[in-house]
Amino acid sequence: MKKYICTVCDYIYDPALGDPDSGIEAGTAFEDIPEDWECPDCGVTKEDFEPFEED
Ligand SMILES: [Fe+2]
Repeated sequence: MKKYICTVCDYIYDPALGDPDSGIEAGTAFEDIPEDWECPDCGVTKEDFEPFEED
């Protein structure tokens, strides 16, 4: 599964970790996060995230 990065604050969503503080279980793909989820660091929505390319 792909990581996604917040284009506002550079928070990286890692599907292996999820976002348990917001009720997103580890192993949840970014695509499967509810649309009303907010970046845990800056509060923007999924629209402000883009795929994070790792080398
Ligand atoms: Fe953010």
